Amino acid sequence: MTLSFTLDPGDGPELRAEVVGLWTAASNAGGAVGFVRPVTEEEVGAVGEAQFARLAPAGPDRLLVARETGTGRLAALLFLESMRFGPMDHWRLVSRVMVHPELQGRGHGAALLAEAERIGREWGLDGLKLQVRGGMGLESFYLRSGYVEVGRVPGAIRVAPGDDRDDVVMWRDLR
Ligand SMILES: CC(C)(COP(=O)(O)OP(=O)(O)OC[C@H]1O[C@@H](n2cnc3c(N)ncnc32)[C@H](O)[C@@H]1OP(=O)(O)O)[C@@H](O)C(=O)NCCC(=O)NCCS
Repeated sequence: MTLSFTLDPGDGPELRAEVVGLWTAASNAGGAVGFVRPVTEEEVGAVGEAQFARLAPAGPDRLLVARETGTGRLAALLFLESMRFGPMDHWRLVSRVMVHPELQGRGHGAALLAEAERIGREWGLDGLKLQVRGGMGLESFYLRSGYVEVGRVPGAIRVAPGDDRDDVVMWRDLR
């Protein structure tokens, strides 16, 4: 099954519900996308509203979605976030990278990162930055797509009392 990518898919209640549904499912399957499970659609929706408010044309951030070719089902997404600071305008933060739990492990995550990289190059960016929750083996996924670890804050993410994870900073150089 192939994916079709759309940058700036628009806005509206249907898209927001799809994004919140995917985000909630990915979080409750153990994903590290801003929540620690269990999480409800209401909780994700509140954060999602703030994220949508920063999207173009109102804000500088952009949403990249991937849909299953044929069914049109939302399969994956990520945000390309601006730092809103001129001296950091030559790169973007890639955030909320997620693939629907039923569709993981089929190369869609790698394809999503490749599309973000293609867009970054088209925009003339110098690089893409990611912040990854440590202790989940996610670094190897990003390493395979050309990201390198450039920093690590030990124990910065408290998943639960006694379960602190590193905040790992990764960078994809596009120069
Ligand atoms: C991380 C994620 C985007 C990868 O997407 P995917 O479509 O499953 O990835 P691909 O099929 O392209 O690549 C699979 C590889 O990624 C790695 N990987 C994927 N998810 C992983 C996880 N949770 N932990 C460790 N490694 C993982 C594995 O090494 C896997 O390799 P394998 O097939 O040899 O086992 C997806 O698993 C996901 O949405 N996870 C939940 C949300 C999340 O945690 N996002 C990361 C934010 S930093």
